[in-house]
Amino acid sequence: MKIALLPGDGIGPEIVREAVKVLDAIAVKYNHKFEYTTALTGAAAIDAVGDPYPQETHKVCQESDAVLFGAIGDPRFDNDPKAKVRPEQGLLRMRKQLGLYANIRPLVMFDSLIDRSPLRAERVRGADCVFVRELTGGIYFGRPQGRTEDGNTAYDSCVYTREEVERILHLAFSLARTRRKLLTVVDKANVLATSRLWRQIAKELEPQYPDVQVDYMFVDNAAMQIIQRPTYFDVVVTENMFGDILTDEASVISGSLGLLPSASVGAQVALFEPIHGSYPQAAGKNIANPMATILSAAMLLEHKGFVEEGKSIRNAVEKAISAGVVTEDLGGNFKTSEVGEYVAKHI
Ligand code: IPM
Ligand code: MN
Repeated sequence: MKIALLPGDGIGPEIVREAVKVLDAIAVKYNHKFEYTTALTGAAAIDAVGDPYPQETHKVCQESDAVLFGAIGDPRFDNDPKAKVRPEQGLLRMRKQLGLYANIRPLVMFDSLIDRSPLRAERVRGADCVFVRELTGGIYFGRPQGRTEDGNTAYDSCVYTREEVERILHLAFSLARTRRKLLTVVDKANVLATSRLWRQIAKELEPQYPDVQVDYMFVDNAAMQIIQRPTYFDVVVTENMFGDILTDEASVISGSLGLLPSASVGAQVALFEPIHGSYPQAAGKNIANPMATILSAAMLLEHKGFVEEGKSIRNAVEKAISAGVVTEDLGGNFKTSEVGEYVAKHI
């Protein structure tokens, strides 16, 4: 299997390195051959070639069976409103060019970490849900976007087509079928035209999935319910920006943002990445939590049909967590590399 590695910025290179150690252990144990090609993205790519998602990187991704991605973002660009090119543009272009329209973010609750959740244990125990975030439409990509000439008015456009909404809803309905069969459609249909289109299409699709119970929720209410009753949710589907916000919110329930993996899928090659960012303050310090990236590698293997291999990674991660072999965000004093090595050794 050919795997493209896009370490990106900040802690990206460190956490991807640990995931590769774990993949290598899988290769040995299950007799697979993983061929890695590393390519540039983000600020690292801007520095090297002036483009956050170079053509060469796109080619590497297209020619691979899967992509493992670290993180993108660099504070040098964050506070410069005039920056012409930003690392995040690379990420958005990559999603668009690779057709990665669905971002799947499972929320895993490790029993041994229940006390690290900011919510009371009895409220979070057993929480198990998956967010399906639309990733290549909505306000992130809608045009027009910009400023008036005098610079005093700015605008973004939230745009969705039927085709974009249908494909993501089909994916979410199908996923719900494999789980508890409860689909929560999150929108702001009381205000937004795009949300009303989403709701209309979801209602049209309902009869095709009679075994799935559908629940419609406004996004502000959903933000509250996720904290109040996290165990209620099964599959949650929503548009791009609502999904961005709700998944950061939901991630803290699990005890650390550093634990949550994600898969971005579409028509062609799929991409796997932690949901956290580039954590620039920790870059190069060997303190970042590599678990989300290691679990992303597990999702990668499962996506390719290597279910047992993925399970083996999950078991090793659970072993590390219950043995207290964790980084400082989870209250441990282990280094990034030590956590990666422990997990690799327990494959
Ligand atoms: C994410 C990130 C990105 C997003 C940023 C870095 C553009 O927050 O993957 O959730 O908003 O999609
Ligand atoms: Mn985000």
